[in-house]
Amino acid sequence: TKSYSITLLPGDGIGPEVVSVAKDALSLAGSIEGIDFRFQEAPMGGAALDLVGVPLPDETLTSARNSDAVLLGAIGGYKWDKNEKHLKPETGLLQLRKGLKVFANLRPAIVLPQLVHSSTLKKEVAEGVDIMVVRELTGGIYFGKPRGFGTNENGDDIGFNTEVYSTSEIDRIARVAFDIARKRNGKLCSVDKANVLEASMLWRRRVSDIASEFPNVELSHMYVDNAAMQLVRNPKQFDTIVTNNIFGDILSDEASMITGSIGMLPSASLGELGPGLFEPIHGSAPDIAGQDNANPLATILSAAMMLRYGLGEENAAKRIEDAVLKTLSKGFRTGDIFSPGMVLVGCKRMGEEVLKSIESQNLIA
Ligand code: NAD
Ligand code: IPM
Ligand code: MN
Repeated sequence: TKSYSITLLPGDGIGPEVVSVAKDALSLAGSIEGIDFRFQEAPMGGAALDLVGVPLPDETLTSARNSDAVLLGAIGGYKWDKNEKHLKPETGLLQLRKGLKVFANLRPAIVLPQLVHSSTLKKEVAEGVDIMVVRELTGGIYFGKPRGFGTNENGDDIGFNTEVYSTSEIDRIARVAFDIARKRNGKLCSVDKANVLEASMLWRRRVSDIASEFPNVELSHMYVDNAAMQLVRNPKQFDTIVTNNIFGDILSDEASMITGSIGMLPSASLGELGPGLFEPIHGSAPDIAGQDNANPLATILSAAMMLRYGLGEENAAKRIEDAVLKTLSKGFRTGDIFSPGMVLVGCKRMGEEVLKSIESQNLIA
């Protein structure tokens, strides 16, 4: 049997609830495929702040680096919102992404046939949407310098950040995006604000240059404000989207809602070498934490992305994805995707139903 070491970072809020369910799905799909997982759990975010006083302990980063892949729940919560920047859970997450050098964040937004009615968009608009958002994850305004607090010439307090991209940062994310677009429908839309921002002007120029390496991909450019509008006007015009760190953050939350809920969207964060980081795009949802109401499917589907993109275990990935579809076909819904006539379940029960779907698959196979 093959064996992989996986670092689990449950984090805060609903994080531990959804990770525990996803871990079980991984174990079961793995055991059927002859894959053995060794899980190490490590503290991260608010949980780590409470335990050892920093949001990303060295031991946690080391464990993540030394594993084959990392599965994260979510971090953050009211308790730590007023912390100084270096003591925020969110800072730990940025340090983790930077520490693992995972610059390419893939966020697929797919409207599943079972969930067309959970979308807030009309059926004919939402049906069949299948978008891959490729978000640059270790650059841009999240990391640019200078940044900080200060005082301006009028004596006013100021806070400032810098949107900065280098050619090498743009080139490598563009190549990842073109390659993904090539394997999909061959359409790539680069989203920027090149009418205003220098960082976007360079972005547009370099993405256009890289296009010559991918003659079979049709490249288009769109300003981010228009893209936000087009995503709800006619999302089916998009196949693969490539964009910077902050626009990708915002547009992927928007795209998630087309699919029915942010509780459905997984992600994979990949670098050139080393383990990938896999996490749902949603946060710690403090408003529903501890109530067993969270939708675990985004995290379960992130585990499937881990199998596919992180470990190259396509069969096990398919098992999990098929089981999710089957569970939805049986009518099970958490609150966020509930519609009349369906069976309302909590996080744990949804997890159990996915396990049952994986098991029944095994009987057929
Ligand atoms: P959020 O994604 O946590 O929640 C937004 C809304 O979506 C809430 O109403 C929540 O209940 C709902 N929701 C989110 N995930 C859900 C799920 N799986 N099932 C059902 N409903 C779900 O965003 P927020 O409220 O803006 O942020 C809360 C905290 O999470 C903040 O501290 C923020 O910094 C952090 N955050 C962390 C991550 C991450 O760890 N990657 C991502 C986003 C936000
Ligand atoms: C996400 C989150 C994070 C981000 C925050 C919590 C730092 O919103 O993963 O989408 O902005 O990247
Ligand atoms: Mn976000």
